[in-house]
Amino acid sequence: MNIAIVGATGNVGRKLIEVLEKKNFPITEAYLVASSNSAGKKINFLGKEHSVIDLEQFDFSKVKIAFFAAGSAIAEKWAPIAAQKTIVIDNSKFFRKDPEIPLIVPEVNSKELSKFKNKNIIANANCSVIPIVVALKPLHDLYNVKRIVASTYQSVSGAGKAGMDELIFQTREVLENKNVESRHFTKQIAFNVIPHIDSFLENGSTKEEQKNHDEIKKILDNKINITSTCVRIPVLVSHSISTNVEFHKKYDLDEIRSVLSTSPGCKVVDEQKDGGYVTPVEAENRFETFISRIRSDASQPNTINLWIVSDNLLKGAALNAVEIAEALIEKDFYGK
Ligand SMILES: NC(=O)c1ccc[n+]([C@@H]2O[C@H](COP(=O)([O-])OP(=O)(O)OC[C@H]3O[C@@H](n4cnc5c(N)ncnc54)[C@H](OP(=O)(O)O)[C@@H]3O)[C@@H](O)[C@H]2O)c1
Repeated sequence: MNIAIVGATGNVGRKLIEVLEKKNFPITEAYLVASSNSAGKKINFLGKEHSVIDLEQFDFSKVKIAFFAAGSAIAEKWAPIAAQKTIVIDNSKFFRKDPEIPLIVPEVNSKELSKFKNKNIIANANCSVIPIVVALKPLHDLYNVKRIVASTYQSVSGAGKAGMDELIFQTREVLENKNVESRHFTKQIAFNVIPHIDSFLENGSTKEEQKNHDEIKKILDNKINITSTCVRIPVLVSHSISTNVEFHKKYDLDEIRSVLSTSPGCKVVDEQKDGGYVTPVEAENRFETFISRIRSDASQPNTINLWIVSDNLLKGAALNAVEIAEALIEKDFYGK
C-alpha cells in the first residue's frame, strides 16, 4: 500500500521509517513529508532515495495511511484535511481526548479500533502511558487495578530533536566549565532532573501528568484512579516509570511474573541482584516493554511496585503507530 509520513525528518518520523523497514510493512510507495525547510532533502527508505515533500504541496489522496508525527498544531490543521482522503494515525496529543477518536495501544484495546471510521483518525497514546498500559493490562484482567501512582523518568528525546541537541550541547558546556544556557528546557537538563513536562494546569499538575490520567483511563479503564509526577531526566532515549499499583483483589507475585513473561509486548527482567533489571540504555532500539523490580508494597494491602522501561521513540511512538496500521490490515479495515 502507499503510505505517507508527515514529520519524516523528526525523531518519531525517522523511527517510523526504521520500524516500517524492519517489519517489512507492505509498502508500494512511500511519501516523506515535512516542512518547507526540509523540502528536497534526501532520505533513504527501503533502498531508495526519497526527496522530502513540503506538507503544503502534498496530495493525501495518493496514500491509504498517513502517519502524522509533526506535533499538535500540524495535526490540528492538517489531519482533518488528510482524513478526507486517507486514514490518519496521529502521534500528537491533539486528538487523544476526543471521544469519537479511538486512542489505541493494540495489545490493550484493539477492539476500539473500528471507531476510526467516525473521523478517519486514530490517536497514538503518550509515550509514558503506552508502557504503563501494556504492563498493566494483563494484571488488570487478573486482579482489577484500583489505583496507580506513577513517577516517570522521561528521556530528552521525548521533547524532539531539539531536546536531544540541548542535552548534548549542555553536557559539553558543563564539562568545559562554560555558562550553561537553557533554550528548550526550563532549567539546565545536563547533570540535573526537571520535575516539569508540558505546561502547568490550574490544579498544580502539568499537562503531561494530566495526559497520564486521561489516557490511562481512556485506554485501560475509566474506573482506575491515577496520580503521577512526570520528570525529565538527562537520558537520550527510553522512558522509565516507577509504578505503584493497588489492586481490588489479592495478588500472587509468582503469578504476576509468570503472566507478564508471556503477555504481548512485555519482557520481564527481574533478577534481584546487581544489574538484574533493565535501564533506559538497554531498552533503546528494543520493541519490548521491560518490567523489572517486581515486588510487594508492604505499606498497603493488595499493592505492588514495578519498574517499567521502554524506548519512547519505538513502543512510545513509532512502533505503536505501525502496530496500529498492522491491526487495521489484520482486521481488514484497510481501504474500507
Ligand atoms: N519523541 C517522543 O518520544 C514522542 C513520543 C510520542 C509522541 N510524540 C509526538 O510525536 C510528534 C513528533 O515528535 P518528535 O519528537 O518527532 O518531534 P521533532 O523531532 O521535533 O520533529 C518534528 C517534525 O515535524 C515536522 N514539522 C514541523 N513543522 C512542520 C510544518 N509546518 N509542516 C510540516 N512538517 C512540520 C518537522 O519537519 P522539519 O524537520 O522540516 O522542521 C519534523 O519532521 C509530536 O506531536 C510529539 O508530541 C513524540
